Amino acid sequence: MPNASNTPVSDFPGTVTEWQKREGRHHLPWQGTRDPYCIWLSEIMLQQTQVTTVIGYYTRFLERFPTIQALAQAEQEEVMPYWAGLGYYARARNLHRCAREICQNWSGRFPGTSAEIATLPGIGRSTAAAIAAFAYGERSPIMDGNVKRVFTRHFGIFGVTSARVTEQALWDKADAVLTDAPPSLDMAAYTQGLMDLGSTVCMRGKPACGRCPLQHSCYAYAEGRQSELPSPKPRKEKPERDCAMLVLTRGGAVLLERRPSTGIWGGLWSLPEFPDAEALASGCADMGLDASLAQRMGGLAHVFTHFKLNIEPWYLEWDAPETEEPTCEDHIWVSKQDLANAALPAPVRKILDGLAGSEPMLF
Ligand code: ADE
Ligand code: SF4
Repeated sequence: MPNASNTPVSDFPGTVTEWQKREGRHHLPWQGTRDPYCIWLSEIMLQQTQVTTVIGYYTRFLERFPTIQALAQAEQEEVMPYWAGLGYYARARNLHRCAREICQNWSGRFPGTSAEIATLPGIGRSTAAAIAAFAYGERSPIMDGNVKRVFTRHFGIFGVTSARVTEQALWDKADAVLTDAPPSLDMAAYTQGLMDLGSTVCMRGKPACGRCPLQHSCYAYAEGRQSELPSPKPRKEKPERDCAMLVLTRGGAVLLERRPSTGIWGGLWSLPEFPDAEALASGCADMGLDASLAQRMGGLAHVFTHFKLNIEPWYLEWDAPETEEPTCEDHIWVSKQDLANAALPAPVRKILDGLAGSEPMLF
């Protein structure tokens, strides 16, 4: 029966474990060992990197540093080439520091419980539990990004997963399903099963519920709410930028300025732009114009991928004779009729649309 978060599911771990044994991944290089050093190395490499990428690095690393002693005795500069290309290089530096710490403080023997493993540099609770489950069969739950997805969907746990309460609810649920499980549970297979489900079945965006062993008890599947879980992070507010634009008209024409070829609106024609109204006024003075005659038009905002631009347009009529041309080739006078064909950014077009009528909209 589909359940909300507090209804225990009788055999969640058993279902995951049997599925892993039948259909999970079995031939990854780190699955053939119970050596905590090798398992530790694989888990650190797999933290931010895909399995297919990790395999080659894992093999080469172990050929060069086959034991924790070999790693501890090496200098860090000797280790880094074996990590180059994997990214997140703090992982390699922590790995090396851990190896030295284990040789100094643990007599060279990898700690035997997840609680002890979690005291090592750069190893969090979930990674420590994974290592202990694979190496020692310890009954401690993991909760990485993939597993969070399975748990939030299956148990209907709402709330941004990085929030402390949600995180706690996830760990509590992971503990609870283990408490209810029989003592014979194969922790290595269960742990691997959660990872395999998260990355090959209960995928982000497109969970393959049709071949999921948890379908019969899954909250999100029963309610059709897979796309709502895990709850999305609120979108960050975009930074804002302000500018002032000059709408200078002479006769029936408007002055346009060409944008630099790089940056926003590269190569388009826009209005002369200034950081603010004050800069606009001194820009007008430089052109021999009386900025005190400029009138504020309705402002507008334009949203780019990485920021929001607030535009404050100022309207000014220039009564100079038409023979006086602007001196710079990046400026042109365009008649109101020809504006329709000009390569204008959308918000500039919106501002100038207000001019097409007999009177601009002034404030
Ligand atoms: N990601 C993290 N640990 C993993 C493991 N043991 N197997 C596959 N993917 C993983
Ligand atoms: Fe994920 Fe679908 Fe399986 Fe539920 S049934 S755990 S949503 S794959």
